[in-house]
Amino acid sequence: MKLTKILTLALLALAFTAACAGKKDSKSEAVEAQAADTPAAIVYFSATGNTRAQAQRLGKRLGLPVHEIVPAEVYTEADLDWRDENSRSSRESADSTLRPPMADTIPGLDGVKTVFLGYPVWWNRYPNIIATFMERHKKQLEGKRIVPFATSGSSTINNSVKTMGLHFPFVTVGNGLLMNDVSDAQIDEWAQPYL
Ligand SMILES: Cc1cc2nc3c(=O)[nH]c(=O)nc-3n(C[C@H](O)[C@H](O)[C@H](O)COP(=O)(O)O)c2cc1C
Repeated sequence: MKLTKILTLALLALAFTAACAGKKDSKSEAVEAQAADTPAAIVYFSATGNTRAQAQRLGKRLGLPVHEIVPAEVYTEADLDWRDENSRSSRESADSTLRPPMADTIPGLDGVKTVFLGYPVWWNRYPNIIATFMERHKKQLEGKRIVPFATSGSSTINNSVKTMGLHFPFVTVGNGLLMNDVSDAQIDEWAQPYL
């Protein structure tokens, strides 16, 4: 093969490689831009499904990604027996320093400004695994806004919102929404300032 032909082929190969690399860059930039454009995400914990249903409703209504806080050890019915003072949930509620581990970290929090954070009210508080989430993701959440929502038997969300602000001063806590019986219009009115 002539030297000029070899050089031409080498140049073509180089140009092809550069074109491919260029394509990859613009694609990954697009993915990053998309992540940064998402103003908010929904993160929730649910032991018996009520809060999950509301989190999914919010995700659809607001067009936001939904992530579940999954406990490393799933809560059984016996664990949730609030009449038994030795049940797992009773022991956790009695000791606010306990941190039930999560099965995994929550992805996609770097690019968002606001996290809508959902949980069931347990003993008029948020379950301790919410504290596990906040502490484990402190780096991603620092300086951001947490907007709580909850389901309950009858208690309000107020006490859990207040304590969240006190326990996690590295975030700003927005208005809480108890979702036991809310209309779509109430959801829109509550969420709009945070989007
Ligand atoms: C351990 C435990 C404690 C609870 N404490 C309260 C409470 O203090 N006030 C209340 O109204 N409901 C209380 N509930 C009821 C739950 O808040 C309610 O059923 C909630 O919708 C469950 O949400 P989930 O299905 O997402 O787990 C408690 C439930 C459990 C299991």
